[in-house]
Amino acid sequence: MSSPAARPVALVTGSSRGIGLAVAAALAKEGFAVALNGPADDAELSAAVARITYLGGAAAAAPFDVTDIGGHEAVLDAIEAKLGPLTTLVNNAGVGVLQRGDMMDVSEESWDRCFAVNAKAMFFLSQAFARRLLARSRPQLFHSIVNVTSSNAVAVAEQRSEYCASKAAAAMVSKALAVRLGREEIAVYDVQPGLIATEMTAPVIDAYRERAEQGLTLFPRVGQPDDIGTLVASLVSGRLPYTTGLAIPADAGMLVPRF
Ligand SMILES: NC(=O)c1ccc[n+]([C@@H]2O[C@H](COP(=O)([O-])OP(=O)(O)OC[C@H]3O[C@@H](n4cnc5c(N)ncnc54)[C@H](OP(=O)(O)O)[C@@H]3O)[C@@H](O)[C@H]2O)c1
Repeated sequence: MSSPAARPVALVTGSSRGIGLAVAAALAKEGFAVALNGPADDAELSAAVARITYLGGAAAAAPFDVTDIGGHEAVLDAIEAKLGPLTTLVNNAGVGVLQRGDMMDVSEESWDRCFAVNAKAMFFLSQAFARRLLARSRPQLFHSIVNVTSSNAVAVAEQRSEYCASKAAAAMVSKALAVRLGREEIAVYDVQPGLIATEMTAPVIDAYRERAEQGLTLFPRVGQPDDIGTLVASLVSGRLPYTTGLAIPADAGMLVPRF
């Protein structure tokens, strides 16, 4: 008896816009069915799903707040009921600081928010995702987790210290996951974007652009969400075989040491 044709299925968190939406589109182009996510079942998420289906991809809305840890199992069940067994998780949902400024003035609220979304949620969503992969046989398909952290996992932005700390935590979660899941041949990658033009960076993108043109990045330009989408699609399609645990700077060489 032949088994049903298997297709890769991905959940991309925070994909109602920005980098997450570009990742979802790139995955759809690779033949993935994609569950798109934002915290609310709103017009932005519906438009994102419509965009993927317009491109010919299989897509479904998966509205949930990633910080609702207790809801993760039910959400993954619902996605699998719609799209089939998940092969891929892209932890992309993230938030910036409530207010840029001196570390001496950082509020507990902003610290907790950064850690809840950027570190704790991706830890537990990865756990829930990995548990179900470990509990089933996983024929042929490449299985992976990609965590979208940041250049700030390694480089300090003085005005956003709590964000940097949360992304450093997320980078360590990626390494720990790679170690735990390696024996199961589930690959884990940490993608660290630099200066990407999205809603998150809109208030500062002109300043970033100027600094990029002046040499902050080796390519003298800021990045676009599609740059990260293409990179993540390559990773989750297994085009970097025999690799796991990599932290990949996606920053046009911004953090290459120079003097
Ligand atoms: N842009 C950059 O230069 C840059 C650089 C380094 C790293 N990053 C990282 O890349 C990721 C994507 O950033 P972006 O620039 O594309 O940001 P963005 O345009 O602000 O998009 C963030 C996405 O995450 C969603 N989200 C936020 N909190 C959520 C929650 N609790 N549950 C579910 N979804 C949630 C947002 O939905 P709502 O707005 O509806 O909440 C939105 O869809 C983030 O992790 C960010 O830290 C970005």
